[in-house]
Formats: sequence, structure tokens, C-alpha cells
Amino acid sequence: MPEKPFDNKALKDALAATSQAVERLMDPLLTAPGGPEAKVVEAMRYSFFSGGKRLRPFLVLASSELYGVDRKQALRVAAVVECVHCYSLIHDDLPAMDDDDLRRGKPTVHKAFDEATAILAGDALMTLAFELLADEASHPDPNIRLQLIKSLARASGHHGMVGGQMIDLSASDHDLGEAEIYRLQQMKTGALISFSVEAGAILGHASKKAMSSMQGYARDLGLAFQIADDLLDVEGDATEVGKATNKDASAGKATLVGIMGVERARNQAEILANQAIEHLNQFDDKAALLRAVAHFAIFRRT
Ligand code: IPE
Ligand code: IPE
Ligand code: MG
Ligand code: MG
Ligand code: MG
Repeated sequence: MPEKPFDNKALKDALAATSQAVERLMDPLLTAPGGPEAKVVEAMRYSFFSGGKRLRPFLVLASSELYGVDRKQALRVAAVVECVHCYSLIHDDLPAMDDDDLRRGKPTVHKAFDEATAILAGDALMTLAFELLADEASHPDPNIRLQLIKSLARASGHHGMVGGQMIDLSASDHDLGEAEIYRLQQMKTGALISFSVEAGAILGHASKKAMSSMQGYARDLGLAFQIADDLLDVEGDATEVGKATNKDASAGKATLVGIMGVERARNQAEILANQAIEHLNQFDDKAALLRAVAHFAIFRRT
């Protein structure tokens, strides 16, 4: 682990501002109805308003800024991605999956509520995401909205996050080689990160060339980010990380840290983060925060 925590004031401020802005937007959209179904909304709120780095919303906003996208539209898409992310975390923590009791420093949703409510809260956050995305407020052009809906669906489902989670749960640490682990990580974590970066390019009608650079950046960033997550499992402090550590090896998870060891995996993460930054060469200072977040992804302590 790095000696000092990652320190970049501009990025820290941007992440904090992102968090505030998505929370302000989601608060009135997640109001509990009067009937007995209120419980599921309480669980959705418990998950959504429990902190987290808000990396994916930040990526939507930062990539949108490159293309001068209307901030209100970008913010809505940012909140939508966080809904899908929170859903993925709630289900990831369930006893049938990683069986975790702590998330973002608090009891996981199935611990604070119950398993059935956690499943439903995840389902409802996912469907809410698509409801919000389909609304005119996300973008006036229905073609752009459709493109966003299709990309997010693909990134979230069996081609992406869900598919990756399936491989993660079925593979044992001895089954997969390096290339297969990269594929698993690209699907379970990379796909949603890629959508977040691409969303700004979609909203901003980016050129094919710019889109392909953004995709290259996002791919390397997503992989580096998951390697860092796996390193935190081995080297992190549970209180600081806000979730249990030292679980992946005993659960037989296939990770690069598991097959390469900590040193080589950290090296890979650094190579990937630098590669990610190189994809941004065509952008000027406007991409400074996207460059900074690539370092944050690997040097973070939470
Ligand atoms: C955790 O994601 C799950 C992974 C995909 C590695 P984050 O590390 O972004 O979790 P939060 O949102 O900050 O809690
Ligand atoms: C989770 O990966 C990826 C998701 C799609 C949620 P992990 O299982 O490693 O994430 P943590 O460590 O529980 O946050
Ligand atoms: Mg998992
Ligand atoms: Mg997990
Ligand atoms: Mg993990």
C-alpha cells in the first residue's frame, strides 16, 4: 500500500461535489409511499444514501464536461448509474453471493432489513434507473435516451455486470488464467465504469475517434480499479475500507492478486492506470480530473 493516502484536492472536491449533487437529485425521487411497500423504499434509501466514493457518477460528470453537456442532464445520468451500482452492491453482499455484513462502514442491506427486502430493493433500484433514464429530463432527444438505455442495459446484464458476477461466483481461484480473470473483471466491474465514461460521450455527440479513446481509457481504468479493490481485500484495513477484508482468498475468488501475488498485481494496476491516462492524450487540461482519477483508482485506501 502507498505510504500516504491519495491526495489531490481538486479531485477530492469534485468527488464530494458529485456526491452532494446526486444526493440532492435523488432525495425527492426516492420518497417512501404511505403503504406497507414503504419498507422497500427505506431500504433503497439506506443503500443509496450510505456514502461511497461516487466514482461512477463522477465519471459521468467528468466525461460530460469534455463535451460541454448540459449539467442537469449529466447529473441525472450520473444518479442513474449510481442506482445500478447500489443495486449491484446490495445483491453482491447477499448470503447467496459474497455473504457480507458490512458495506460502506454500515450493516449491509440484508442485515439492516432482511434478505427479501434486500433483493427487492436491488430490483427496484435497477428498474428505477431505467425509468429515470427513459424520462425526457435525461435528454430531449429520444434517440440519445435510447442509446443510453441500451448501453446501460448491456453493461448491467449478462453481457456485463451480471455475467461477470456469474463467473465470479462459479470460478474458483484455480480455474481461471490471467486473460480469463481480466475478462471476468472487465464484465463485473469494468462494464459499468465504461458506461459511465461513455455516457458523457453519448450525451455530447462525441466523434467516433473521441469515443474510441474514451472506451480505451475506461477499459484500463475499470481493470485497474478492480485490481485495487482486490488489493484492498488483502492489504486494507476493514474500518477504513468500510467492508470486510481478507475474504477473497478464503472464498476462493479468482483474482489477479491471487494468481500473481500482491507485488505483480500492484504493478499491473499501475501499468493500467498509466495506459488509461495515455488514452486521454488528445484532450487538453479539460481531462485533468479524468487523469487524476486514474491515480486515485489505484492509490485509494477505501
Ligand atoms: C465496490 O465498488 C464494488 C466494485 C465494483 C469493486 P466501489 O469501490 O466503487 O464502492 P463504493 O461505491 O465506493 O462503496
Ligand atoms: C463486486 O466485486 C462487483 C460488483 C459488481 C458489485 P466485489 O465482490 O469484489 O466487490 P466488494 O469487494 O464486495 O465491494
Ligand atoms: Mg463479489
Ligand atoms: Mg463482494
Ligand atoms: Mg472486492
